[in-house]
Amino acid sequence: MATPEQARDALSAVKDAGSGRDLLELGWIQNPRLQGQRAVIRLALPGFAQSQRDRIVREAQAALLALEGIDEVQFELAQPSTPPPSGAPIGAAGHGPGGQGQLPERQPIAGVKQVIAVSSGKGGVGKSTVAVNLACALARDGLKVGLLDADIYGPNAPTMLGVADRTPEVRDEGGTQMLVPMQSCGIGMVSMGLLVAQNQPVIWRGPMLNGIIRQFLYQVDWGERDVVVVDLPPGTGDAQLTLAQAVPMAGVLIVTTPQEVSLADARRGLAMFLQMGIPVLGVVENMSAFIPPDAPDKRYAIFGSGGGARLAAEGGVPLLAELPLELPVREGGDQGVPVVLSAPESATAQAFSALARRIAALTPVPA
Ligand SMILES: Nc1ncnc2c1ncn2[C@@H]1O[C@H](COP(=O)(O)OP(=O)(O)O)[C@@H](O)[C@H]1O
Ligand SMILES: [Mg+2]
Repeated sequence: MATPEQARDALSAVKDAGSGRDLLELGWIQNPRLQGQRAVIRLALPGFAQSQRDRIVREAQAALLALEGIDEVQFELAQPSTPPPSGAPIGAAGHGPGGQGQLPERQPIAGVKQVIAVSSGKGGVGKSTVAVNLACALARDGLKVGLLDADIYGPNAPTMLGVADRTPEVRDEGGTQMLVPMQSCGIGMVSMGLLVAQNQPVIWRGPMLNGIIRQFLYQVDWGERDVVVVDLPPGTGDAQLTLAQAVPMAGVLIVTTPQEVSLADARRGLAMFLQMGIPVLGVVENMSAFIPPDAPDKRYAIFGSGGGARLAAEGGVPLLAELPLELPVREGGDQGVPVVLSAPESATAQAFSALARRIAALTPVPA
């Protein structure tokens, strides 16, 4: 008669086609148990994995029926979820050198040489603006660049890159659906904004978000990329954790505006990444000084000054850029042509170009 251990063993052969990971470990198959001659498992596939459902059911069924004394397999449906590894502390343990291995290994993306994330404590501080312009500036400097918009509930990259009304191609690769990044402004981008109709609220629950971000990492036809820039949602939530636990990162940028209310949240973000053993490349202060369009030599520190430098000093990381607040930045964002391309002579575009070069120097593309 088969044992529950043998059932788990048999099921460990059933993998996610995108990441190659074991479905028990991902939480897509849960609670396997044996009731006489019947095996029962719960299926909890995230939205994007629905295309794999038939294959997963088939393989799980075959694996369990091959066990001695099992002649029936019953599937229960569950709320889709990808639970974090239970009991494992969130932190460097298991990842860094000397870690204890409680967390699954981080898995690089095939063909992608490095991943750089853009994070912030608060929304509206210019994270997406920084991610999009940084990606475009790196591409203009000759790198092969991808942009992963990980802001599942508030995706902005499609609008900022002028492709909000386009639908991405999905390719079938050996039974797995692979999303083809949308090309714009010299970069390839994926975003939830490309997958839900405009003006549709995104209403999936938290746990599914992990699955979606994993699909954006591993079920996208990234091809060869020197760097993939990830635009994170604000805060220190599920998206940050999923990304940090899933994929090795060259580093994170923390975007903040100069005033105290923005800094307080940015501090938490910075501390979280350091605690997880993710390199913080530095702080980017956005909206440092307003430059009036009719008086380009003037600077007004609307949100105060020195906040970014303070945060960087506290965290022991460099202040990488102080980006001005300028009309063409907002216009570029709304019109779908990032300021580094639409107004390359502007002070902000120049500051973005300098930022891109600093980042490229800090994280040279591995051979
Ligand atoms: N330096 C800047 N100058 C002018 N407008 C900016 C600047 N940075 C961001 N914005 C504008 O502020 C708004 C919020 O920026 P966004 O990048 O969406 O922030 P976040 O991603 O942090 O929520 C957008 O309309 C954007 O165009
Ligand atoms: Mg954003």
